[in-house]
Amino acid sequence: MDYVQERVVREAAKETVELYGLATPLNLILIAITLYTTYLLYKPTPPATLPREPPAVVFRTFTPRTLLPYNGTNNMPVYMAVRGRVFDVTSGRNFYGPGGPYENFAGRDASRGLACHSFDEDMLTKDLDGPLDTLEGLGAEEMESLQGWEERFLSKYLVVGKLVAKGEK
Ligand code: HEM
Repeated sequence: MDYVQERVVREAAKETVELYGLATPLNLILIAITLYTTYLLYKPTPPATLPREPPAVVFRTFTPRTLLPYNGTNNMPVYMAVRGRVFDVTSGRNFYGPGGPYENFAGRDASRGLACHSFDEDMLTKDLDGPLDTLEGLGAEEMESLQGWEERFLSKYLVVGKLVAKGEK
């Protein structure tokens, strides 16, 4: 009987050794790789998110007075009018924003100043509630220069509205 018991104990010990014998470094690495691959396969994926839409551009009608606040102060967008078109020149804030070389065009009708290559105050419409500048008195060369600016702005900036005199639509 002693022999049988002794044998049972010895066999059990042998099985334990065999089991631990499986824990070789290679096996451990393989188990780790298998577990990691399984994790990658079943890892929950974050829900797909759509890119944010750019803010909608509403085409508006401005008068010289309602255009004025868009001169880059108060963290407002910067708009500039050229021959009835209002351009959003916010991306050119360095040019038109406060302290920029062309800041006096911001929030104003810049047509005459651009045509004449002049930043003078008297290039800008004085009476914000009066008629728009008809560009009377400009020569062919100046009108050509103005057209060049318009083409540049059309390819670079978004038109966000039109400029009309007060009381017009
Ligand atoms: C001393 C003479 C001048 C120099 C050296 C000069 C220089 C420049 C330079 C380097 C730029 C940047 C161009 C770019 O990166 O696209 C620029 C832009 C501009 N210039 Fe002048 N400029 C001068 C006179 C004028 C005059 C007289 C006007 C018209 C009144 C004018 C109107 C503009 C405007 C409107 C822009 C910005 C265009 C945009 O928004 O892309 N500049 N200028």
